[in-house]
Amino acid sequence: MKKYSLRNHNTFGLNVFADRFIEYDSEAELLRLIEEGEIISPYLHIGRGSNLLFTKDYEGTILHSRIKDITLLSEDGDSVCLRVGAGNVWDEFVCYCVEHGWQGVENLSLIPGEVGAAAVQNIGAYGMEVKDSIISVETVDISGRRKTYAVEECDYSYRHSLFKTAGMNSVFVTYVNFRLKKSSHYVLDYAALAKALASHCNITLCDIREAVIRIRQSKLPDPKVLGNAGSFFMNPIVSRSYFEDLQRVYPAIPYYDIDAGHVKIPAAWLIEQCGWKGKSLGHAAVYENQPLVLVNQGGAVGADIVRLGQAVQKSVKEKFGIDIQPEVMYI
Ligand code: EPU
Repeated sequence: MKKYSLRNHNTFGLNVFADRFIEYDSEAELLRLIEEGEIISPYLHIGRGSNLLFTKDYEGTILHSRIKDITLLSEDGDSVCLRVGAGNVWDEFVCYCVEHGWQGVENLSLIPGEVGAAAVQNIGAYGMEVKDSIISVETVDISGRRKTYAVEECDYSYRHSLFKTAGMNSVFVTYVNFRLKKSSHYVLDYAALAKALASHCNITLCDIREAVIRIRQSKLPDPKVLGNAGSFFMNPIVSRSYFEDLQRVYPAIPYYDIDAGHVKIPAAWLIEQCGWKGKSLGHAAVYENQPLVLVNQGGAVGADIVRLGQAVQKSVKEKFGIDIQPEVMYI
């Protein structure tokens, strides 16, 4: 059987192969594929592969949505509700919203991936998370059952949702329903963004999008040039008392308050303190401008990136006693 190369379906640029690759253009086509038994187990539904690390060939079926229609469901003086196909490229959707003057996703400009995966992953950046603009998520499961999950049912938290939990890999997102605002209550708390916009008088959605794009381009590698999956690790959340103990030893440690008992620490800082910034192991490296990102320097296999990730985790554990967890999903 001829295998299918996934090189263009994972942003690490790893040349792994799947037994089968199926794309569908509509919900009806997905339902037909299910009914006709085309989706042979094991299977994995992917978006752009911007948050995946293939450690080996995938001996099964890879599924990919090309559902791209966008429907305006309702509109009033304050907001619009949109039904957006899971296969839309995320940043094209952000651009569409900004052009229409609809607020709620502009800080999430240039995040790689597609709309369906954005809702699974609860993407976030510059003080904004996608969950705050989602009304509901429409799905079809492997038995052909359609179900819409209201946002409250999606169990959203930092880089987490119900759809990432065990057993939910048989549930495929078909559409995401969004509510976007017409107001100009922008989210500009994030220091780097506020600084980039400091000289603007009447800030527009376009200004915000452009500033976010500039910041991201200055810090994060372009996957087309240097294979990567954005943040490789999540920023760890620790108890406030543990953080205060660390702060006594490392007074410069950066942090974000989460709640009375918890603090989030930038993994980038922990990794840099361990001396990993810009260092490589085989063909994989810790990116020089943002140590939260691991890159394929060319010719890496999944195992190289796994090995580097583990070495970084071990250093952070030894120096700070903190377990940093991958944000990227290992396959
Ligand atoms: N830092 C260092 N050294 C560095 C870079 C950063 O010590 O070389 C420290 C600094 O203290 C800095 C802090 O890390 O203030 C935070 O860095 P940054 O603002 O770049 O954000 P981040 O915590 O590294 C998170 C998200 C990004 C998102 C940015 C902006 C996670 C895992 N990552 O990164 O998301 O774009 O905030 O909001 O939460 C992604 O998920 O792929 C992603 C890129």
